[in-house]
Amino acid sequence: MSSYITKTTPGNTQWFLNDRFGMFIHFGLYSLPARHEWIKSYEQIPEEQYNKYFTHFNPDLLDAKAWAKQAKAAGMKYAILTTKHHEGFCLFDSKYTDYKSTNTPFGRDIVGEYVDAFRAEGLKIGFYYSLLDWHHPHFTIDWLHPRRNDPDALEQNKAKNFKNYVEYMKNQLTELMTNYGKIDILWFDFSYPDKSQSDPEHDIIPKDWMEPKGKDQWDSEELIKLIRSFQPEIIINNRLDIDQDLWTPEQNTPTEWVKHPQTGELVPWEACHTFSGSWGYFRDEMSWKKPRMLLELLINSVSCGGNLIMNVGPTARGCFDNRAKNSLKVYEEWMGCNSRSIYGCTMAEPEFTAPRGCRLTQSNNGKRLYIHLLDYPNGFLQIPELYGKVDYAQFLHDGSELRFSEGNFSHMGDVISNQQSCFTIQIPAIQPDVLVPVIEIFLK
Ligand code: GLC
Repeated sequence: MSSYITKTTPGNTQWFLNDRFGMFIHFGLYSLPARHEWIKSYEQIPEEQYNKYFTHFNPDLLDAKAWAKQAKAAGMKYAILTTKHHEGFCLFDSKYTDYKSTNTPFGRDIVGEYVDAFRAEGLKIGFYYSLLDWHHPHFTIDWLHPRRNDPDALEQNKAKNFKNYVEYMKNQLTELMTNYGKIDILWFDFSYPDKSQSDPEHDIIPKDWMEPKGKDQWDSEELIKLIRSFQPEIIINNRLDIDQDLWTPEQNTPTEWVKHPQTGELVPWEACHTFSGSWGYFRDEMSWKKPRMLLELLINSVSCGGNLIMNVGPTARGCFDNRAKNSLKVYEEWMGCNSRSIYGCTMAEPEFTAPRGCRLTQSNNGKRLYIHLLDYPNGFLQIPELYGKVDYAQFLHDGSELRFSEGNFSHMGDVISNQQSCFTIQIPAIQPDVLVPVIEIFLK
């Protein structure tokens, strides 16, 4: 068994720590301008002007079943959809707002279609819910808000009652937690309990009179109680400014297991990444990640005991564009024959050190060790700690045997290792046609 003890948390993370790989989906009105999901704030777009995206919202090619099939084919086991992003637009038929997909020309409850389709493919269901809301009349203006530079911004705030907004969130979360069956993850976004977050490039700079938002403003404790009263097992992330089940490093892959900042305990964590930089569909973005990096993100996460969700931003027509499809295909191809080193795996026991250019994972029951060859070795791979512990070794993608020797190993008269207790695997000269080959070691 894996000897790692992670912090115990209120929700059920058992399936999650086994499944390891999911899909994030960012979809909303911002998919129409197609130049970042923060566009309303970045360009400080007034409500009347932003409204054109509401009146033109008609993703006629949206087929949640096709989304789910692509996620499953890529080896993803769960998904998280934006039910509402910072712009405030809801993809579900909430009773508490008119600002929802059912009131657009499209007229459909996208959350409902998503839940049905993904559940039918056997994937676990996650909801993203934005704590920020740049549409709600009682959401006070702060330094991230599109109206931050209005000369009368402070005056506007005086007419707002933030408690009404908190009430609105409670009502909507009740809808989301009761209308769609079992929900496995609730992914909040995000708290800013101090003024450290600024972004001068987008003119996002706190002013003296602006107030931060954290657990007291959101009433996070009550939100959590409410959610758990309907969905006791649900996994809740840490962005409510109260620790729950999940830590969520964003667009950055930790190089070691994420630790609780105060207690130092190992925590369940999930890195989230984009294919190209922004979360919403961004037509002109050129920074699409290369196939090799896509695989590294997944392998690096699991090798440090974490999960990965990769984001897709469907187009305004509601489907994945070719660049996203090609990126998903990279996972499909690799996971098709290598997923055993990902599902049910975690960081290898500390007694094993990864050889140069390699990443290790180990099955939770401790019986298999996986060596991911990010840099393909020349001829031999040596791992002294494996001496005497290996029953059998093979390439994972094709199950072909890899011969190994133990002890003082020499090749054509050249001594490769002087160590009496060395373990050496012989590696074929030519890299098999797999982007990142994996060696599967059966431990004794
Ligand atoms: C950020 C951004 C947001 C995105 C999220 C995903 O907090 O505000 O646009 O949805 O990260 O992790």
